[in-house]
Amino acid sequence: MMDSMSTPNDGVRPRHGSARIAGFRETVFATYSRLAREHGALDLGQGFPDFDPPRFALEALAASAHGSQQYAPLGGVPELTQEVAHDVGGWLGRELDPSQEVLITVGATEGLFAAVQALIDPGDEVVLIEPFYDAYPADVVMAGGVPRYVPLELQDGQWRLDPDRLRAAVSERTRAIVVNTPHNPTGKVFRPDELDLLVAEAERVGAVLISDEVYQRIAFTQHVPLASRPGAWERTLTIASLGKTFSVTGWKIGWVTGPAELVGAVRMAHQWIPFDVASPLQRAGAAMLRHARESNYYDELREAYQVRRDALLEVLQPTPFRALVHDGGYFVVADSSALEYPDDVALCLDLPERVGVGAIPPSAFYSDEHKAMARHLVRFAYCKDVGVLRQAGRRLAALT
Ligand SMILES: Cc1ncc(COP(=O)(O)O)c(C=O)c1O
Repeated sequence: MMDSMSTPNDGVRPRHGSARIAGFRETVFATYSRLAREHGALDLGQGFPDFDPPRFALEALAASAHGSQQYAPLGGVPELTQEVAHDVGGWLGRELDPSQEVLITVGATEGLFAAVQALIDPGDEVVLIEPFYDAYPADVVMAGGVPRYVPLELQDGQWRLDPDRLRAAVSERTRAIVVNTPHNPTGKVFRPDELDLLVAEAERVGAVLISDEVYQRIAFTQHVPLASRPGAWERTLTIASLGKTFSVTGWKIGWVTGPAELVGAVRMAHQWIPFDVASPLQRAGAAMLRHARESNYYDELREAYQVRRDALLEVLQPTPFRALVHDGGYFVVADSSALEYPDDVALCLDLPERVGVGAIPPSAFYSDEHKAMARHLVRFAYCKDVGVLRQAGRRLAALT
């Protein structure tokens, strides 16, 4: 008779997890947000605002309770694709066809995933610039591709893209190059000559450029869209979303724009990923883009972020952290070498308990090969209330 405590041996145990995900660990955001919560710390870790979205966004959300609550058309709700075409067209000085050259996605995250699924065959290489947004390597690996890493070089407090390193990484096997400007986590806004170098390298080997521009409206020097550079449009997929621009990161409404052939390929992948994106939120997004276009919302947004960024820089002054250049986005990366921690992970694991402030270790945004480049760095998010930033600064000053 079988012991009631023993495992019945009546089938083959299921395998838990494919080879594709075998190397994945919990994302750095889950780990460090939990740690901040456990210690009741002020969380300057994950990049989401701790303040409300603008009133017009909440009104648009309420209004979207009226009207259809059913599936949206595959490419997106026409009101939104038209607004996005208008918006991106304004950046690029070109007229976009909303039905062919725009695709609405579940945030930029799904746009990136679908773009990589659409372009990459097993063994294809994808060039990623380090530090990277951590979804990029995961997207490439899930498509069977091979990431090739190009670290930005830190020189005199400036992050530079080294042309030789880039050329060495780009080869006939390169199918795509991913760029993010304004850049998370460094706050770098890529200069036109750097963008032209990326275009030239993509042209040299016939690669596609994937440009993640989710922080396009939060730049303190001029943000130049990659697709606006000479020769770029026909080989560039640009990805953006509502989340950062309207402080609605929980909505996950994004878009992919580019030439019809490339966007059409992404649509083929997208139709089997979510198929469809929340239609009420798409309608609300259309109303918000319209409102922003007809008001000075984008200027106000940028000014408000400049105030927050400046507040963080000011409060970091009396602390052991030396802020690096920061021209856009949600984050300041600072040098923490004055503190005696073995690396950035040890620092960020200790900060919530020691002084009640949460932060993210930038080595999470590097390949194993280059992690050591970030061991003396730390990332603080400033998409937070100015009072919270000041309080965090006072706590960090206690480290001196
Ligand atoms: C560089 C970058 N790309 C994409 C995303 C994700 O965008 P979304 O929330 O629209 O999916 C983020 C969010 O932090 C990001 O920092």
